[in-house]
Amino acid sequence: MKNVRKDFPILERKINGRRLVYLDNAATSQKPKQVLEAIAGYYSNHNANIHRGLHLLSEEATAMYEESRKKIAGFIGANCPEELIFTKGATESLNMVATTWGAANLKKGDTILLGDFEHHSNMVPWLEIAEKTGAEIEYLESDENGEIHLEEVEKKMTGRVKLISLTHASNVLGTIVPIKEICGLATEKGILVSVDGAQAAPHLEINMADLGCDFYSFSAHKMLGPMGVGALWVKREILERLNPYEFGGGMIDEVSYQKATYAAIPARFEAGTPNVAGTVGFAAAADYLEKIGMDDIRQHEIGLNKYLSEKIKEIDGLKVVGPKEPEKRTGLASFSIAGIHAHDVASVLNDYGIAVRAGHHCVMPYHAKIGLTGTTRASFYLYNTEEEIDRLVEGIKKAVEILS
Ligand SMILES: Cc1ncc(COP(=O)(O)O)c(C=O)c1O
Repeated sequence: MKNVRKDFPILERKINGRRLVYLDNAATSQKPKQVLEAIAGYYSNHNANIHRGLHLLSEEATAMYEESRKKIAGFIGANCPEELIFTKGATESLNMVATTWGAANLKKGDTILLGDFEHHSNMVPWLEIAEKTGAEIEYLESDENGEIHLEEVEKKMTGRVKLISLTHASNVLGTIVPIKEICGLATEKGILVSVDGAQAAPHLEINMADLGCDFYSFSAHKMLGPMGVGALWVKREILERLNPYEFGGGMIDEVSYQKATYAAIPARFEAGTPNVAGTVGFAAAADYLEKIGMDDIRQHEIGLNKYLSEKIKEIDGLKVVGPKEPEKRTGLASFSIAGIHAHDVASVLNDYGIAVRAGHHCVMPYHAKIGLTGTTRASFYLYNTEEEIDRLVEGIKKAVEILS
């Protein structure tokens, strides 16, 4: 990925006297100047509230908002832009699925299937809705390498299962879940599939028609866009029948003192003033990623993962969790080091200007399952380099030296 680093001003920063090595991309990515300029350009030249105004700025802002929807819908291969709802991020998108579809369609005797390494954002909303509706949750057991096999999915797809909600790529293990194959099995049985794409949309080429799922949730900030905006894609025939998520301005058709009727999709699901600047930045991020090419980004990350896997073999007691083959993971490696706390490793790395994340990464139950309280996670993106991996490995060696 030559020449991309110059687009990311923050990568020039010095941390503790050394040039920043940013390896916390699974938490949030950095933003290229094309995204920063798109947001500043919107506020500098076009800012107004959308839909309601009859003045030129409002028309421009509305057009930019709807253009952003078209861009993001195109980026994920949606059939039409109306299937894409803008949200605050993947967490809100996942909550929307649980509280709209879940509340209306689940009852006692029904089962929801989840993976055993879901992010809390794809677990806690279902725990809540199960409590309210009387439905039960069952978990798909991953194997010792953090992979979910189709036999396990088939075994658990009983007649009681109404929906499967799975991450497309794990934020701890990097595991890429075979969503397309799972959707194939689910469709045969009339089971719906909701996908948490927070860690997949930034790193893999995704296409809704090809995947065959019913709901897909993702966030802009993990894919070079701003914080506070994301999307939920829903298959049109399902979205048309869903109850609104929030109520208020922007989502109504007519209101009297007694009654309200609701707007058509997608406005029906976007009550209140949306984050227009955020969606403009989101679209600029999608443009940027497309220009680089998702395939090239994926190959770059596999290369970094392979390079890291070789280098860390030298470190005694270090164990990477998740699939052993680097090409089976998205661009990340979470690891534990015998006898050393994950937080201490991250703290020493910070002393050397290296940003990684440590802890349970919002996946507490899986860490408990594998007998760890936390892991240290290095996660890459298109701007990371082999030289940065060298610095990471040097930093880990220093941490082991200091902390053993
Ligand atoms: C797999 C996964 N799902 C959901 C989320 C929630 O995303 P957000 O915090 O952007 O709402 C994250 C964030 O780390 C994630 O990694």
